Amino acid sequence: MKGYNVAVVGATGAVGHEMIKVLEARKFPVKELKLFASARSSGKKMSFCGESLPVEELKSSSFKGIEIALFSAGAGRSVEFAPHAVKSGAVVVDNSSAFRMDANVPLVVPEINPQDIKLHQGIIANPNCSTIQMVVAINPIHQVSRIKRVIVVTYQAVSGTGMKAIQELERQVKEWVGGKKITHKVYPHPIAFNVIPHVDVFYDTGYTQEEMKMVHETHKIMHDDKIQVSATCVRVPVFRAHSEALHIELEKKLTASQVKDILSKAPGVKVQDDPQQNLYPLAIYTAGKYDVFVGRIREDIAFPNGIAMWVVADQLLKGAALNAVQIAELLSA
Ligand code: A2P
Repeated sequence: MKGYNVAVVGATGAVGHEMIKVLEARKFPVKELKLFASARSSGKKMSFCGESLPVEELKSSSFKGIEIALFSAGAGRSVEFAPHAVKSGAVVVDNSSAFRMDANVPLVVPEINPQDIKLHQGIIANPNCSTIQMVVAINPIHQVSRIKRVIVVTYQAVSGTGMKAIQELERQVKEWVGGKKITHKVYPHPIAFNVIPHVDVFYDTGYTQEEMKMVHETHKIMHDDKIQVSATCVRVPVFRAHSEALHIELEKKLTASQVKDILSKAPGVKVQDDPQQNLYPLAIYTAGKYDVFVGRIREDIAFPNGIAMWVVADQLLKGAALNAVQIAELLSA
């Protein structure tokens, strides 16, 4: 099998760490792996397949010989450096929001629209984490009975904001236990023992950018811009794995047991649904897993043809690193 020269840009970040682990765990055919981050991390070492690899400062000249570049260093770095990677002949899989809605950039969830990667002109975008887990769970239902409307509320883990937010939650818990005043820098309010209905910046409409990503990216990935989506995105004091409550209106009625049956056969989905046994997806048990877990599947009494369900996934994995590596696997197939 051909081996690829791969770069991870943002290797020291929360998603970058996972990209390296997923490449190793899935035995992606890596010939050489290069790790890039800011000058602050230059000289650090990270391990991959038993080797200790140096982290190098990201520069426009970093991509010589690179064939696949996985970017997760923020949208600013993607805008600045992805064109250099493409010019050097690499295909970029970009985890930031920089290019997602660009008409020339496919936005891909391999379980849903793998065929779109063929349209790439050097850059393929990885969708937003909250969107990925929602579409993996709703697309199989949509194939059987068209989805007219989705109302979604998210409960998002702090690791979605990056390493600094993980450290902030840890520090705030220690401050609270130590009887000290809780200090905050990353979020506009303390996140420990709190629930903040604010992810990303607000628009004049009152929705946030994260909420509108869920609308527009769902349309692009599922190739159906008639699905009406309304989201409320909420940050919760969970380290890892996002949870979502979905309320869906279907064109034709499906029973809860039909939906369970559809989802139990869907790629990338695991149904975990036995409320009598207190079994439903939970963030702490989903952390570190690849699948999107679905439970609390029931007929929604507020809509005609309604289905309600609870969807949990590790947003650093399926919501970011795993999805990016799955795209790289499609490129290498
Ligand atoms: P560094 O660790 O050197 O700051 P997270 O989202 O978890 O905070 O991670 C962000 C990632 O993006 C880190 O790997 C970080 O590297 C990297 N990064 C941030 N700024 C730059 C930059 N100017 N050039 C290259 N990488 C950067």
